Amino acid sequence: MALLKIARIGHPVLRTPAIKVDDPKSPEIVALARDMIETMYDANGTGLAAPQVHTSLRMVVFYIEGARVNYERSEAAGGHMANGSEDSGAIPLTVMINPEIEVLSDDVEAGWEGCLSVPGMVGEVARHAHIRYKWLDLDGNSHEREAKGFHARVVQHECDHLDGILYPSRIADMDKFGFNEEMIHGQQEVIEE
Ligand code: NI
Repeated sequence: MALLKIARIGHPVLRTPAIKVDDPKSPEIVALARDMIETMYDANGTGLAAPQVHTSLRMVVFYIEGARVNYERSEAAGGHMANGSEDSGAIPLTVMINPEIEVLSDDVEAGWEGCLSVPGMVGEVARHAHIRYKWLDLDGNSHEREAKGFHARVVQHECDHLDGILYPSRIADMDKFGFNEEMIHGQQEVIEE
């Protein structure tokens, strides 16, 4: 186990499309997953993509606390978050190899994001509100989930990293981008990825 150095915005690895993992079961990939998880927790991140640790492979780790999901549910009370079974609790620690996203609705939602590769800053980004995503685990087995709201946002943010896209490139209104410590009014729910 080891903590990995996190690349910050400006490093070319963050702008480089990552390549597919050939063998999810290989010892190198399993070790990388362990180190990414340790690094994500150490940095208090919600998710981490391999390019963020200078490894240009299509691989993501993430974990969403139930409190984050339930907060969003209450925010959307009576709205479209109410019925999804995936929205009722935490999303377990997930290692995704070669993830793919399918958009299930034209709806988009604006929300605040942060990123471990853009430390100290936050920005408002529009994301698809409802997606399905598929991935391989470290045994090479395939999985899929549907996601809405915050869960869907995290997955889209992380998968963007695999295409060399950082969230500031998706900010429509640059007035809604700045240092977290300065953006104090009504912008309390920020994720660190
Ligand atoms: Ni990020």
